[in-house]
Amino acid sequence: MRKIFKIAGAIIAILIIALVIVFALAALDVGSYSSDANSSQTLPAKGAMVGNALVVFDPGMSGNAKNVATAVASSLQDNGYQVTLAGIKSQAATNYSTSGYDLIVVGGPCYMGKAASSVQNYLKAFNPPQNTTVGAFGIGSIQPDGNTTQVIAKEVAPLPNGSAVMIKAAMKIVSGEDINEKSTNFVKELLNVYSFPVP
Ligand SMILES: Cc1cc2nc3c(=O)[nH]c(=O)nc-3n(C[C@H](O)[C@H](O)[C@H](O)COP(=O)(O)O)c2cc1C
Repeated sequence: MRKIFKIAGAIIAILIIALVIVFALAALDVGSYSSDANSSQTLPAKGAMVGNALVVFDPGMSGNAKNVATAVASSLQDNGYQVTLAGIKSQAATNYSTSGYDLIVVGGPCYMGKAASSVQNYLKAFNPPQNTTVGAFGIGSIQPDGNTTQVIAKEVAPLPNGSAVMIKAAMKIVSGEDINEKSTNFVKELLNVYSFPVP
């Protein structure tokens, strides 16, 4: 009997230690130190090119946020944009002001009710040219408090007080949701491209 208590105690201790490690890794935003966070790639427009876009992402620990950024980039390519897909610590993510982007999307994981610290820090210094269209995304396990752009943007991309940036579209993808479908609709909202039923 005593042995069972000892084993149960050891299992609980291991679970608590594992939980503390996961919380610490999330709090330190370790994903933003990965090679994905420091690199970028340029993806060609599909069909006639209509503009230039930058998609900045914090890959997170699992890389899921990169999957979402890639789906957003792919949808932008389908709409005629050449896309620079840039890790949040890459040069391409930092040098946006002189690169002539028509559109910039920023996103990453949410931890403890907020966007990852790398996303918060990126937004503190975020000052794109005035005519740039801006969108934001986040991933997480909890649905946002509402479905308006304002509510979602406040959680996934909190802008500092006094920021002149206007976020035109925002989405949060929660575990189990269809990344491609949500990303396509997000890009439609960002570009104002809606398909109307043919009578
Ligand atoms: C310590 C910790 C805190 C989290 N807090 C939230 C949260 O407040 N809201 C949310 O939607 N998801 C939260 N999540 C879930 C993560 O956002 C989700 O697992 C996401 O996929 C993180 O990506 P990653 O695992 O690639 O880092 C949390 C996850 C961890 C580990």
